[in-house]
Amino acid sequence: MSRGTRAFYDQLADVYPLLYDDFEAEVTSQGAAIDAVLRSWAPSTAIIADLAAGIGTQAIALARHGWTVHAFDLSPRALVRLDAWARREGVAVSTTVHDFTAGRPGGLPRDCPIAFLLLGNAVAFATDDKLSCGLRDLAADPSTAAVIGSTRVYDPDAIASAPCGACVFEHTRLRGGQSVTHRWFACGGRDYRVEVELAGTVQLSAVTMATARHRSAIAALFLGAGFTSLDWIEPNAAGFYQPMFVAR
Ligand SMILES: C[S@@+](CC[C@H](N)C(=O)[O-])C[C@H]1O[C@@H](n2cnc3c(N)ncnc32)[C@H](O)[C@@H]1O
Repeated sequence: MSRGTRAFYDQLADVYPLLYDDFEAEVTSQGAAIDAVLRSWAPSTAIIADLAAGIGTQAIALARHGWTVHAFDLSPRALVRLDAWARREGVAVSTTVHDFTAGRPGGLPRDCPIAFLLLGNAVAFATDDKLSCGLRDLAADPSTAAVIGSTRVYDPDAIASAPCGACVFEHTRLRGGQSVTHRWFACGGRDYRVEVELAGTVQLSAVTMATARHRSAIAALFLGAGFTSLDWIEPNAAGFYQPMFVAR
């Protein structure tokens, strides 16, 4: 499962910015939204451990806001891009390959509160059992101030009842006069394949498995792992493109 996700995001790393209308504007607006959430929900002394940092969408944005950020991801290719971006920006963000289902990464300081990030629907890429394992480890650690995640808005029941191979998400946007289409397909109740098409030609067709969960199922996983509360923040309240949750 993890190897599939790693290969998938290694392939996606170079085209990832194309999935947004204006990636730089997205980074700026996501950074402002998460910075505000952190200021409400995490102590001002907290540092950030972005456990699914990808190419750095939120990690770089938060470093720009002055947070100390440590970035982790399964995908080495995504972290290479993040590292290069941090150097260009002149911000210090450490990068380490780590599987969040293994829990708290080693090497993080023990003497300050940590806000862990699982943004961009990262929890969907882990099965219930593996996610629970990682979350139990985070919940048990006294330095964990909060886990802040986000999920896609989709209907898990529609994905569960879709025939295998049915397209369950499609979004086309114009970039520099070229159309970019991003599609997800379903199989057996899970998202399983993504295509990115540029100007009518498929540039990437990659396979992984992602579980679409109801909010109640996400809450049950966090609370079952030992977190005492899970609050949702709607996109119109946070100014973030997905519903966010804060587990404490
Ligand atoms: C949709 S991307 C989001 C990346 C970034 N947070 C953003 O919003 O641009 C999901 C990320 O989760 C990472 N990921 C998925 N499962 C993971 C795991 N078990 N451990 C660490 N990273 C994982 C993927 O490699 C990918 O970079």
